[in-house]
Amino acid sequence: MVAGDDLRGLMRLWPHGVSILSVDVDGDRMGVTVSSLVSLSLEPPLIGVSIGKDASCYELLRAAGRFAISLLGSDQEELARRFAAGYPPIVHWEGVPTREATIAPLIDGALGWMEAETRTEVDAGDHTFFIADVLSLAHGPSRNALVYRESTYHSV
Ligand SMILES: Cc1cc2nc3c(=O)[nH]c(=O)nc-3n(C[C@H](O)[C@H](O)[C@H](O)COP(=O)(O)O)c2cc1C
Repeated sequence: MVAGDDLRGLMRLWPHGVSILSVDVDGDRMGVTVSSLVSLSLEPPLIGVSIGKDASCYELLRAAGRFAISLLGSDQEELARRFAAGYPPIVHWEGVPTREATIAPLIDGALGWMEAETRTEVDAGDHTFFIADVLSLAHGPSRNALVYRESTYHSV
């Protein structure tokens, strides 16, 4: 077995797209920056995301049973930093432009959006891997994506 820090040390070399996962339970809203989003299946359309059990959105995400994803453009680094910073939810959302959504707030001007319903939670050590059906999606303004590698944001 390798140490967790060794895995992190290798994987930080590997570029990941950056998105914001959001949840809303009766107006209680949370968002978190994630790089673990993957497309899992096309028939049916499934995505997966791995969320730390210590993340402040974790219990709300489980309670909601559904979530939204905003795929960030390269000009949205400030939002990625904000939703990774561990601020209280009210600070996260203050002044953030959102667009109409049925499941949870979507970040305005993102590259694209998805709304999804969790079908399976897979226990994955200190994380849980959420597998979800994609209920709706939309494209935003086309431009470069925000990518994270070696603790730095890049435009790709
Ligand atoms: C680029 C980037 C990607 C991240 N990806 C994930 C992820 O996929 N899953 C996760 O649980 N946390 C991820 N995090 C950490 C969370 O964004 C956040 O920093 C962490 O949950 C602590 O904030 P909290 O106390 O509000 O939960 C990522 C952070 C950054 C900067």
